[in-house]
Amino acid sequence: MSVSQQFSAVEEFSQRRQQLMAHMVEGIAVIPTAPEVIRNRDSHYPYRFDSYFYYLTGFKEPESVLVLIAGASPKTILFCRDKDLEREIWDGFRYGPAAAQAEFGFDEAYSIHSLNEVLLTLLSNQPRLYYSLGADAVWDQTLLGMLNQLRSQGRAGKQPPQAIMDVRQLIDRMRVIKSAYELNTMRRSAQIAANAHNRAMQVARGKQWEYEIEAEFLHTFYQHGAQSPAYTSIVASGANACTLHYNANNAPLTQGDLLLIDAGCELDGYASDITRTFPINGKFSPAQKDIYELVLAAQLAAIEHATPAHHWNAPHEAALKVLVDGFIHYGLCTGSPEAVMETGAYRQFYMHRTGHWLGLDVHDAGEYKTSEGDWVMLTPGQVLTVEPGCYVRPAEHVPEHFWNIGIRIEDDVVITDGACEVITAAAKKSVVEIEALMQTSL
Ligand code: GLY
Ligand code: MN
Ligand code: MN
Repeated sequence: MSVSQQFSAVEEFSQRRQQLMAHMVEGIAVIPTAPEVIRNRDSHYPYRFDSYFYYLTGFKEPESVLVLIAGASPKTILFCRDKDLEREIWDGFRYGPAAAQAEFGFDEAYSIHSLNEVLLTLLSNQPRLYYSLGADAVWDQTLLGMLNQLRSQGRAGKQPPQAIMDVRQLIDRMRVIKSAYELNTMRRSAQIAANAHNRAMQVARGKQWEYEIEAEFLHTFYQHGAQSPAYTSIVASGANACTLHYNANNAPLTQGDLLLIDAGCELDGYASDITRTFPINGKFSPAQKDIYELVLAAQLAAIEHATPAHHWNAPHEAALKVLVDGFIHYGLCTGSPEAVMETGAYRQFYMHRTGHWLGLDVHDAGEYKTSEGDWVMLTPGQVLTVEPGCYVRPAEHVPEHFWNIGIRIEDDVVITDGACEVITAAAKKSVVEIEALMQTSL
């Protein structure tokens, strides 16, 4: 998010805080951002804020904590780094509490150095503490230490909160339904990633290495303003595509092989997540085309089931039905569709599920089942991936012409009142489209 967009978003972030406080009814929430992490010696990994903290603040600096007080006298409080002109010469701009309070719309802001003292007072005599216990051991210790300190001050009339609730449960319910503002960002993230996949189809021609294609993705991501890949890109040629989380990306491309690329970017905090699979020489072989069109048919069936008339698992069930019929048709599985389903024999070739929520995290927050154990119904504003695949490792009784074919096709979709919106639709997907695009070069 650019600085000007960030300021226009102040109202949106403020509304999210108000909404969370309404859900809390009465109590205090403590939501720290992520720590900086050392990569080696004195070098850090690129900093990434905590998604829950960011969702409620829009604030990207490390060493920050959001405190919300819900009840008769509601209050939003940010703790953050002090302004420090000396450090800013080395590390860059930091807001400092006064500017952060004014520009991000908090009721109060304090130096992170006063956290222990101020938070101890704020925690006193609150009925409930909303906190993500277990997410960060250092934070758990700090907070539990404060609760014990309060417990020892009973004679001074101080009590720790009587209950600790998981604040993530409340925020997850909010995060799973995206606002218009979030959807706008997600569409832009999806467009950048789709452009990158199309570009890869135009540049991959063999005589290259997987990492060179990965570099093309990074080029497109950064060139269009994405801050980072959303996850480690998978650039898997030939048999490597049958390793689901392959990310060595260090093999030479071979003519006649397929190239599976699972890559998306993070734009202003929001992930895109696209997989495309295409032939390195620009033309699918008959066996590759058979499996590709099977996976594509499964994906289109799943997409059709991504509507509010269906529950979470319906797209997976629709994809699986198409795949199982195809596996039998092509001699990968034997027996009736019912038997292949029941025994789970299809898992030799399709061993993952068909999607996940998508948002600030690539595998985003949100329940998949209700507390009664039913699949949640799909609801307008949810964003999910649809990503069936087929992975054929060499094995006895498996037709040899399919060996080492690994195919996944993954799009990101928004649930609407009617048919879902495929926000990654710009990435070429049909055999005809891919082969035509591969005839062109940049
Ligand atoms: N790229 C991660 C996933 O598809 O789930
Ligand atoms: Mn995915
Ligand atoms: Mn993916």
